[in-house]
Amino acid sequence: MLYGSLNIKDGRLFFEGRDLTDLAKKYGTPLYVMSEDKIRENCRSYKSALGSCPCPDSGAVYASKACSFKEIYRIIAEEGLGADVVSTGEIYTAYKAGFPMENAYFQGNNKTDDDIRFAIDHGVGYFVCDNFEEIEALDRIAGEKNIRQKILLRVTPGIDPHTYDEVATGKVDSKFGVAIETGQALEAAKLAISKKNLDLKGFHCHVGSMVFDSDVFIRAAAVMLGFFKDVKDSTGFTATVLDLGGGYGVKYYEGQGEIDIPANIKELSGYVAKKAEELGLPVPALKLEPGRSIVADAGVTLYTVGSVKKITGYKNYVSIDGGMTDNPRYCLYESRYTVMSADKAGEEANLKADLVGRCCESGDIIQPGCMFPKTIGRGDTVAVLTTGAYNYSMASNYNRIGRPAVVMISEGGERIAVKRETLDDLIRLDV
Ligand code: LLP
Repeated sequence: MLYGSLNIKDGRLFFEGRDLTDLAKKYGTPLYVMSEDKIRENCRSYKSALGSCPCPDSGAVYASKACSFKEIYRIIAEEGLGADVVSTGEIYTAYKAGFPMENAYFQGNNKTDDDIRFAIDHGVGYFVCDNFEEIEALDRIAGEKNIRQKILLRVTPGIDPHTYDEVATGKVDSKFGVAIETGQALEAAKLAISKKNLDLKGFHCHVGSMVFDSDVFIRAAAVMLGFFKDVKDSTGFTATVLDLGGGYGVKYYEGQGEIDIPANIKELSGYVAKKAEELGLPVPALKLEPGRSIVADAGVTLYTVGSVKKITGYKNYVSIDGGMTDNPRYCLYESRYTVMSADKAGEEANLKADLVGRCCESGDIIQPGCMFPKTIGRGDTVAVLTTGAYNYSMASNYNRIGRPAVVMISEGGERIAVKRETLDDLIRLDV
């Protein structure tokens, strides 16, 4: 079975009604293709689930680390989502795209004084404070600038989201946030409340990424609301925002688990409202910060095959003109993807081969054990599906390879959203 927005016509693979082989020929490869309509659809699904939930003023904040360039921030702004930004680079990109910065949430475990100044100067709405030093520094700098900065405090609820270690961040020993279990989160909350240039609105946590278990966010909410209550009892402060971070998983391959996000939000928000009432707290605004589930299935990467190496008695390799430079996720996390021939999609796929990149190292694997048509050869087009999240944003110039272009398709047309890096771009900073 093919994914919703993919189909095969005349032996060729189509995505969102577009012939992928044609796009590869027209714009060159490697090429990131992103569907604007799909991004909007994903935004709307969060918006309607959170807009109709029993927690007032709830909403989604797009975690732009998943995919960050100006066109994305414009789309997100039009759809009415906030933006989670983690660096001055993301802040600057959002700002230059005309994003309403009062809806930006600045995350990160080490914001330098310069970062803090830059974010304040660019009107970032919320800081998600991560540690004691940041609270002190932000209060000092906000004071210098004569503003009262809205903040959330990032805490760790001690939840194991059952995902891969690199993205599990809600555990007590995480580098992010202050731990509730050790009592340090309460101390940090007291410190933030005591600061006259800080306006603490509520608490934030992010348990991890690729979450499929439907109870993970509910367990996190239970711990967080318990913490809301402790803070209220010991300081009198009432938090009004509960930000549970991002993390909903996305389906990358057939047979992988799935989660019904709107249904989960319904259950979660119902729980939050009920639990808050039980604890004698006002029902907080529920914020979620999806990254992957907004952009992942909106993206496909296209490559051109350069060689097919059949090592008799051993294994086969299909080498393409991209690699770990445009998609490092298999190298980093052994992430699985669905790989298909785009121009020979109608042929039976019975040649097993590793899809490998052009970088000078053996670990440069996009996906092992893929199935291709027997006739695959130089000049053919290969599509790697569901590459909209953490591919372009994690791309590098290793081996001095330029980053691919991003072409944005929609029902109304198509346009280059990010240009292909040229050789001159690569030496631009060299002196
Ligand atoms: N909020 C915070 C504070 C986060 O740290 C993250 C992701 C998100 C939201 C969005 O999570 P999502 O909905 O995308 O799962 N490079 C890895 C993923 C790293 C995620 C980091 N934080 C990958 O390629 O799988």
